[in-house]
Amino acid sequence: MFVITFRRMNMNLDFCAEYTKKLMPQEKAVSLIPKRGNLALGLAANGPPALCAALAERARSGENISLNVHYQVAAAPVAPIFDIELMDRLHLHSNFLSDLDRKLMKEAGNLSIIDHTPCYLWQLPRIYTEYIHMDVLMITVSPMDRHGYFSLGTSNDYSSSVARDCDMLLVEVNENMPRVFGDNQIHVSKVTAIVENHQPINELPDRPVTQLDEVIGRRIAEMVPDRATLQLGIGGIPNACAKFMTDHKDLGIHTEMLTSGIVGLYESGALTNKYKEIHRHKTVFTLCWGNKRLYEFIHDNPSVESYPASHINDPYIIAMNDRAVSINSAVEMDLFGQVNSEFVGGHEFSGVGGQRDFMSGAFRSKGGLAFLAFYSTAKNGTISKIVPRIDGILSETRMEPMWVVTEHGICNLKGKSISERALAMIDLADPRFKDDLLREAKRMNLVR
Ligand code: COA
Repeated sequence: MFVITFRRMNMNLDFCAEYTKKLMPQEKAVSLIPKRGNLALGLAANGPPALCAALAERARSGENISLNVHYQVAAAPVAPIFDIELMDRLHLHSNFLSDLDRKLMKEAGNLSIIDHTPCYLWQLPRIYTEYIHMDVLMITVSPMDRHGYFSLGTSNDYSSSVARDCDMLLVEVNENMPRVFGDNQIHVSKVTAIVENHQPINELPDRPVTQLDEVIGRRIAEMVPDRATLQLGIGGIPNACAKFMTDHKDLGIHTEMLTSGIVGLYESGALTNKYKEIHRHKTVFTLCWGNKRLYEFIHDNPSVESYPASHINDPYIIAMNDRAVSINSAVEMDLFGQVNSEFVGGHEFSGVGGQRDFMSGAFRSKGGLAFLAFYSTAKNGTISKIVPRIDGILSETRMEPMWVVTEHGICNLKGKSISERALAMIDLADPRFKDDLLREAKRMNLVR
């Protein structure tokens, strides 16, 4: 076990004593978890690796435990519990699937091995506290400050609400976890047990920007006005867009996920947050996942704050800023304007996250713009992402989308009739699929 060095000489000694009293090896910390109940995990980089490894060991020991494990965007730190052998004792429930979930589903040859709970991210803090009460939360935090507070660092999302509401809070202190301002601090008095583990914080690898990303990114950047407040969603395209806005003036950030592209925007001088109506002068987010440079940028930075998803993703809060711009991606769209952002090959691939939260917030915002951007094809051009009619789960009804962007063009569906939107969507499709789409549009009586 590592022993943390209290670097600040003027720390409150009562809090240091409480810290020391609660500090224990991870095996002892996880032995406190009841045999049955709901356990939540920190999101992405906030997953606690030492606690998860110890919990997996406890489950492997043959003890008769049955825990429902709830989380969103599982990443490498929680990988120890993603073991098929443990699935009769640890029942996984994800709100947003990641590579780790998909790998386990494939390995098990059973898609239902992980249960998906559909929900908008802005509603998740309430769902995780009011509808599924979490008995335990296990999460990585930054070192305690002199007032006895740990920062949740890269995570806030559901974590701050659950940390304050759960019966048992197990924290894994990591001196590499950035300390972030805003509303994410948890006091040592609320913590049940502390373990220390100072391994590097998990990073989301940078995705190379492709030629298509460039075409789409430039197209969107041209439409974004100076003084816009941006949300950049998950996936290759939204992150690439930031690259093309470095000549903009006085942009702001109010985003669900803070990603590596933001640092370049800040360094170029384009990001000032100077004209936001709410959280002026601050970059605000609810979860952060990216590279080391991003983590260094948010650490101890008074211009960056995190808030719970119930605040950041609330469409009413988003709309308080004028010129709110959301940029998200989709798996497929149909000729009606319906959207699937989360199903691939007939089953859940990711989740809806905060896509709807920001799309509807941007529409409500004065001068707001909501973009859905995606390549016109998948699988090396063999599949059209624009289809006659989505055959399965919808992430958005046809009423929600505003601007739709592919490498072939851009159109605004707001105000468009059934025939106008069918033709506009066909315009955005790859030329190889246009004839078929038009034929289907006629067959479905969408166009004459
Ligand atoms: N048909 C078949 N396969 C498809 C497909 C389609 N229409 N669209 C995508 N795929 C496949 C891709 O080929 C790729 O497969 P591969 O990994 O075998 O190459 C995989 O699905 C992922 O597609 P890709 O386009 O690379 O995904 P992405 O990482 O850019 O993410 C979304 C795109 C839509 C999945 C992602 O943005 C998402 O989950 N969005 C929903 C939530 C959201 O936007 N939240 C907003 C706030 S964070």
